[in-house]
Amino acid sequence: MDNRELIEKAKEAMKNSYSPYSNFKVGACLLCSDGTTFTGCNIENASFGGTNCAERTAIFKAVSEGYRDFSKIAVVGSGNDLTFPCGICLQVMAEFMIDGEVVLEDNNSNIKTFKVRELIPYAFNL
Ligand code: THU
Repeated sequence: MDNRELIEKAKEAMKNSYSPYSNFKVGACLLCSDGTTFTGCNIENASFGGTNCAERTAIFKAVSEGYRDFSKIAVVGSGNDLTFPCGICLQVMAEFMIDGEVVLEDNNSNIKTFKVRELIPYAFNL
């Protein structure tokens, strides 16, 4: 599965975003090492802390289905440029895909990739 396909799947998942409070839609598509993909969207809550980001929706779906080996995650948002993962999502990526990559699309439809390690260089660990 190439980066463009992952971005397109993330855009499809973004359509399911439940974001009535921020009106900011996010979609993600996680690629497992065996080629399986899991998508996710952000899911907000009237109690704002109950909100789940798109990236964590995709990762938690995968882990709950028995997958733990991930290579890439594509993320798209309804803003007008790159949608970088938040700190909590990066910490979750550090747990499951520290050697993985984040795939984003800029406002000229160019794909940019970043190493998870580059985005969270000093991740908390036990
Ligand atoms: N959001 C994500 O889904 N992923 C991120 O990495 C950043 C933020 C969502 C959470 C909330 O629903 C909306 O974007 C605005 O913060």
